Amino acid sequence: TTETEAEVLGKYDVLPMYKQRDKFSHKGSYGHALIIGGSYGKIGAVQLSSRSALLSGVGLITAFVPKCGYIPLQTALPEAMVITDADKKLITDIVFDIIPDAVGIGIGLGTDEKTVKAFESFLKNNTAPLVIDADGLNILSKNKALLKYLKEDTILTPHPKELKRLIGDWEDDFDKLSKTKAFVKKHKVLVIIKGANSISVYQDKLYINSTGNPGLATGGTGDVLTGIITGLRAQGYTALESACFGTYLHGKSADLAIEFKGYQSLIASDVISYLGQAYLDLF
Ligand code: APR
Ligand code: MG
Repeated sequence: TTETEAEVLGKYDVLPMYKQRDKFSHKGSYGHALIIGGSYGKIGAVQLSSRSALLSGVGLITAFVPKCGYIPLQTALPEAMVITDADKKLITDIVFDIIPDAVGIGIGLGTDEKTVKAFESFLKNNTAPLVIDADGLNILSKNKALLKYLKEDTILTPHPKELKRLIGDWEDDFDKLSKTKAFVKKHKVLVIIKGANSISVYQDKLYINSTGNPGLATGGTGDVLTGIITGLRAQGYTALESACFGTYLHGKSADLAIEFKGYQSLIASDVISYLGQAYLDLF
């Protein structure tokens, strides 16, 4: 539509967003991110997300997982701190004694009734900048009354099916975008429509990502994106910067990774490994 402004973002569009590191900075300068998620058999999602947040540059990372996630996380990611739920397999009560600068929630969470309750009370009480993905989105879709608790500038990162559950079905791409825009306006949030060219929808404007490739069509790459965006948000990037710069870095890492891994063999962990190269490629 002529009413909607749309912008395709390349390197020189995201470069001004980049925050340099000050010589006298310390880990406290780069924020503390909290990743809440996981359930029995889906702890890997939290490992991927937490590791991605770390490699995005965050100062500190804490993961909140069911008890069964404690050993895997402490083993696979010694840089992370871990807080566990009272339950072995599920998140049932989200309580922690840290003050995070940003929270990413929903990955591998499941939609058990107890988890829904925990998610609901977290949503009501949380004041930190928030990124909601995966089952966090599915819980919202099943309980639309919860949408009113979303604080301004919350970032939602649905893939097409999650988006459909959230805003209802659409007729064509035009309809999809206008329905997403209406949702974004109503709830004052930012929605990233994930796909081959992920689109960040924010305040009536569309920001189209230019990086990424079909190598990303593999399990766990969405969890990586959530971690990167939560990490950027914790470092003080705005919601819009975190979404645009985050999708750019995520896609760029994959673009660099396939040169060595090829499309078929690329896995989510590779995307994380190339995050540093994606940063270096900016200059
Ligand atoms: N080209 C470029 N990017 C792509 C392509 C493509 N062809 N295909 C996928 N991607 C990117 C998307 O833009 C997104 O950033 O890969 C990522 C995939 O994210 P998800 O669809 O959320 O996949 P993933 O997180 O791996 O899914 C695992 O989480 O959300 C749940 O229901 C989901 O069970 C699934 C689980
Ligand atoms: Mg996903």
